[in-house]
Parts: sequence; C-alpha cells; structure tokens
Amino acid sequence: MNYEVTENSEYDFENRMVAPEYTPEDAEVENPLRPKRLNEYIGQDKVKENLSVFIEAARLRKEPLDHVLLYGPPGLGKTTLAGVIANEMDVNVRITSGPAIEKPGDLAALLTNLNEGDVLFIDEIHRLSRSVEEILYPAMEDFALDIITGKGQMAASYHLPLPKFTLVGATTRAGQLSAPLRDRFGVVLRLELYTPQQLAEIVTRSARILQIPIEADGALEIASRSRGTPRIANRMLKRVRDFAQIISDGVITYQSAKIGLDRLEVDEVGLDANDRRLLKTLIQYYNGGPVGIETLATAIGEEAVTLEDVYEPYLMQIGFLSRTPRGRCATPAAYLHLGLTPPALAEKESMQQKIDGI
Ligand code: ADE
Repeated sequence: MNYEVTENSEYDFENRMVAPEYTPEDAEVENPLRPKRLNEYIGQDKVKENLSVFIEAARLRKEPLDHVLLYGPPGLGKTTLAGVIANEMDVNVRITSGPAIEKPGDLAALLTNLNEGDVLFIDEIHRLSRSVEEILYPAMEDFALDIITGKGQMAASYHLPLPKFTLVGATTRAGQLSAPLRDRFGVVLRLELYTPQQLAEIVTRSARILQIPIEADGALEIASRSRGTPRIANRMLKRVRDFAQIISDGVITYQSAKIGLDRLEVDEVGLDANDRRLLKTLIQYYNGGPVGIETLATAIGEEAVTLEDVYEPYLMQIGFLSRTPRGRCATPAAYLHLGLTPPALAEKESMQQKIDGI
C-alpha cells in the first residue's frame, strides 16, 4: 500500500503532553507504530468485528468496500484504521482533510487521480465547504463528477466517470455532518476511548517496535495516564523513555514511569493542568454546576468545541463530569480527586458539627 498525504497546515500543534491532536512527530505517515493489519490493531473490538465482515464480503464480491464514516474523539486511530482498511483491501490510500480541500477543483483533482478500489481518507470531513460537498455526493453515489463550466450561453455540463473508490471519512463531530453527506455512508463506526489494559498492550507493542525495555507495570502506569488515547500513550512512552535513560538504567519500570509522568505534570488519572483548571473553575466559580458549556468555555479561555471534543469525553469516561440538560456538573469524584469536599458530604459534615455542638 502507498500513502500519499495532502499538506495541511491547519492542525493545532499544541505543546500539551496530553493533547490528542497530531503533532508533526505523531503524524509521520510511515510511523512504524501504526498497525497495518486488522489483527495487529488493538482494541475497538466491535468496530474490528464488523469491519472484517464488510471487508471479507466486499473482497469475495470483488467490489470496493462501501463508504465508511469513522467518528469519535481525536487520537483514537481513525487515520490508522483507514490505512488498515486499504491494506486489507489491497489498495492504496490517499490521505487528506476537510480544511485542505478548499475548492471543488481540489476534490476533482484528488478523485480523478484515484485508481479502481482506492481508499480516499478525508479527516475532519465535517469541515468540507458546501460547494465541495456537492461535488462529493455524485462522486460517492454514482462514481461520477458532474461539472458545469462557463455561464449563460457558454455553460456546459460534463459527466465524468470516476474509478470506483471507497471514501473513508473521519470526524470528531458526527452531529455536525450534513444529513445528505451522512446518509451516503454505508458503514458508520463509532470509535471509543481505550481501557487502560488495551492501552498497556499498545504501549508494550510500541516499546517492542522502538526497542525500549519496559516492564508490565511501567506500561500500565503510562496507559493509566493516557486518557484512553493511543496517540497520547505513544507520545508519553517516548518522553518517559528519556527520563528512564537519564534517571535509571533505561528500563521503564513503574517507578521511572511515575517519576517521568509526575515531572510532565500529568497526574495519576491522566489529567493535566488544563483539565484540573476546568474542574476547579467549575467547582469554585460555579459551585460545581450546572453551568452552560459556552460560559464554562469562556471562563477557561477555550472554545466550546474544544471542551466538547478534547476535554469532556475523558472527564466523563472517568466519571468526573456529567452533562445535564441544565449544563455541566462536577461529580463528587472530581471534588475528591482535587482534594476538595463534595457538596453533599460538606452538608453532612456541617450537620454533624451542629449536632456535636448541641
Ligand atoms: N498504535 C496506535 N493505535 C494502535 C492500536 N489501536 N493498536 C495497535 N497499535 C496502535
């Protein structure tokens, strides 16, 4: 399989250890840590089971795979999965993203350069412009480009057949996809955050590939602090290796992982200073909520979508944050994690003090 990537300068190259977005280092196309086949891909069991059936059936029929939409929080392996799909189908993949396709002509150029059966991967597909989306509909449905050139009497329309291809679209926000686009995907798969055990397996596999000596509880310590996200786990593995080399004999043990991650200010459950600031703001300024997402976002100087895509999925998964119809709330577990007393407990304690005082 060959990879081709369209340049895209819109990714946020944040400096944050636990940012699930790409950094140039993660984005290396021939990243040796990316699994190439479904049987090397750890976790996402439901997705893999269904996908393997669809792939096998398409192969038996000698047809391209139906268009696939992957959605879920960033960093869970959507690009990797597109590469795996291409490998399993024995075709090439062409990688691009919604913001990189600026004009209908950009998409037309991509589509006309595909070979029969190829995978076209469009990351952040919810960010395609209307005019580009309109070219995509007939391309997905009829494998054809409908182009109109000129105006008035000079107008001419062309119907250009395309090779049969598979579009793999990825988005963190399935809800933002227009209905006509969403309806054109035959396969819709939701990726979920990984468990610490799955992440420990991924870290162990990555350490083997990078020839980093690691003990099982060292891998589990990195995994537990990686917010359910392989991209973060692999990044932490590389940084912890540096600490292990300098402060001990280079082996990643529970102890060297702990020291490294403490120094990186990622706590035992994977929260960094930004997550803690969000929770503290919610607790100290808004009494633990409920508070509207826009208000909370403004208070911590982030955009609401960043809160929704990047911070909230993990905080909700570990039970620190709840979304209610009236807004976001911090849970008692969040209070306790920050060393604060949850309101119900605080009430009980003050009642007890009153009783003691009688
Ligand atoms: N590296 C990154 N994501 C992975 C996954 N899901 N399985 C195996 N290795 C990975």
